[in-house]
Amino acid sequence: MAGVGQLTLRLVASDELTAAQVARLHELMQDAFAGDEHGGFTEEDWQHALGGTHFLLESDGAIVCHASVVTRELHVAGVPLKTAYVEAVATDPGLQGQGLGTQVMRAVGDFIDAGDWQIAALGTGSQAFYERLGWRIWRGPSFVRTKSGDVATPDEDGYIMVRLTPRSPALRPDAPISCEVRPGDVW
Ligand SMILES: CC(C)(COP(=O)(O)OP(=O)(O)OC[C@H]1O[C@@H](n2cnc3c(N)ncnc32)[C@H](O)[C@@H]1OP(=O)(O)O)[C@@H](O)C(=O)NCCC(=O)NCCS
Repeated sequence: MAGVGQLTLRLVASDELTAAQVARLHELMQDAFAGDEHGGFTEEDWQHALGGTHFLLESDGAIVCHASVVTRELHVAGVPLKTAYVEAVATDPGLQGQGLGTQVMRAVGDFIDAGDWQIAALGTGSQAFYERLGWRIWRGPSFVRTKSGDVATPDEDGYIMVRLTPRSPALRPDAPISCEVRPGDVW
């Protein structure tokens, strides 16, 4: 297992990423999601990670772990909530299991708590990793809001996780939850 060097965490807006950072992030996502059962990390997945704030954890100047936070509008029981949606969480495969993902997700949690989001959410198959960081599997049925109405997304049920923020209203954890439609994976 490779060793972790001097660590630096940078928060960078999507439109301020350098070309070199974008290239490295593409490489990191491809490497980290190579064994993913859903066909790896797609261009649509990358697009989903843009438009917000990137958390870049560098080891000796090289990006080794990433997450991004974008704003979406989820509805819980029909109530619109300004949502911090976490995308593209990945650690360099050679450096996994050494606390880097935890460090990034703790910073993401602090950032979200300091903002004005009413809930945080993400979609994942790595539920245990997030549970220890305060995220909970949403127990209600999930939907996507389309022009022709809400469409159930049953394949996503059990894979959507949420984290309450200081601005979260009281929420029934078994209530229906919906997201806006987007290209690629909607959740
Ligand atoms: C999930 C991921 C980001 C975790 O990053 P990491 O740097 O390895 O995480 P950490 O070292 O901080 O792990 C903290 C703990 O979570 C556990 N953990 C790590 N990945 C996990 C996973 N996929 N599922 C369950 N637990 C996991 C670790 O074993 C560790 O537990 P320990 O301290 O008891 O050993 C990393 O495994 C990864 O990039 N995976 C591929 C891409 C991916 O699946 N991303 C997240 C899904 S959206």
